[in-house]
Amino acid sequence: MPKLADIDIYSPDTFQREMPHAMFARLRREAPVYRQEEPHGDGFWALTRYDDVVALSQDSATFSSERMGTQIDDPPADAMAMIRMLMLNMDAPRHTAYRKIVATGFTPAIVRTLEPRIRGAARQIIDAVAPLGRCDFVSGVAAELPLQVIAEMLGVPHEDRHRVFDWSNRLIGFDDPEFSTSIEDGQRAAAEMFAYAQGLASERKQRPRDDVISVLMRAEVDGQALSEAEFDAFFILLSVAGNETTRNLISGGMLALIEHPGERRRLIAEPSLIRTGVEEMLRWVTPVITFRRTATRNTEIRGQRIAEGDKIVMFYPSANRDEGIFEHASRFDVGRDPNPHVAFGGGGRHFCLGASLARLEIRIMFEELLRRLPDIELDGEPRRLRSNFINGIKSLPVRFTPA
Ligand code: HEM
Repeated sequence: MPKLADIDIYSPDTFQREMPHAMFARLRREAPVYRQEEPHGDGFWALTRYDDVVALSQDSATFSSERMGTQIDDPPADAMAMIRMLMLNMDAPRHTAYRKIVATGFTPAIVRTLEPRIRGAARQIIDAVAPLGRCDFVSGVAAELPLQVIAEMLGVPHEDRHRVFDWSNRLIGFDDPEFSTSIEDGQRAAAEMFAYAQGLASERKQRPRDDVISVLMRAEVDGQALSEAEFDAFFILLSVAGNETTRNLISGGMLALIEHPGERRRLIAEPSLIRTGVEEMLRWVTPVITFRRTATRNTEIRGQRIAEGDKIVMFYPSANRDEGIFEHASRFDVGRDPNPHVAFGGGGRHFCLGASLARLEIRIMFEELLRRLPDIELDGEPRRLRSNFINGIKSLPVRFTPA
């Protein structure tokens, strides 16, 4: 066993091989507030226990999203202004004002009205692969539903949705050479996305509709309409947050069912288990690995002194396997109840805006998959994303009885 101090919970390589659950378990036990050095920064405190992730998420006065943003890597100083335009990286009261603008588009009641359209889309996606008997599950199935749903909500024409897919891959995949050759390429992707959002905006100004874009166009903060840059920031946040996460949950959830055939049989035999099954996939997969906060004053976590300005990083996949909270935490159990997982965050002001939408997409997709393609199995090795931010699967070759 390596020395505790040799554990590297930062390196994207650590997460490319597999989710390091043994390492997480050891940190939860021996060093729940672990000091991690990093190659391009001053190091950070890594939180791996459930209670600490929840407490940190709910104390946004002491632990700021705005000071240095929410990504594990320190942002370049000249990017801070842009980063703070995303509400993900704002503190109250600014955050409250911006969140109010979009929140009306994502309430559980609004989301419910989308069910028939989402089901229609899921069926078409499965129709397209069903006769083939094999496909790459990520590009053929998992990526398509979130992409189509968010494109429709944002008013992106159907034929342009793969441009959004490409941009968000390049923005998120900055640590994986397959997606992004450099930070500059990520910035180019952001610039292209900005330009595209502007085009949509000016079209909506002339011909308003009832999509989220039109809501944003009418929105005001403190009596002022959103600036161009603020509008673009919403577009980027919604398309990236809505795509990468849900796609990887669907891929990771499928892989979990393939690896636990007994649990898949349970879901097929007892379809009413789908709701707890979806929550268990969220806990098991945990598509977002990390978010960071910055201490606004000197404080303590579990007796460890934390100085103002220190970086603290939450590891959600670890919190979701905390044995103190989840009985038999390393067992995949589609009937698990209660299941207070933190896949959408530990509560508090930044709790995932798209949680209801994501839950609906995932439930519908698996209802359709389990019915139409009940015998999906692996047809090659899955390839994982190199990232300490998103628990991603780049490709998942599968085969099944053609339908
Ligand atoms: C399985 C799918 C998803 C997962 C695992 C996920 C996870 C998360 C997490 C962990 C956070 C941060 C919470 C915090 O800091 O406390 C977050 C925030 C957010 N999510 Fe999601 N998300 C998912 C789907 C979506 C979808 C479909 C959308 C919608 C378009 C969305 C939009 C957002 C936005 C806008 C925020 C920022 C909220 C704020 O700062 O107030 N997410 N999400």
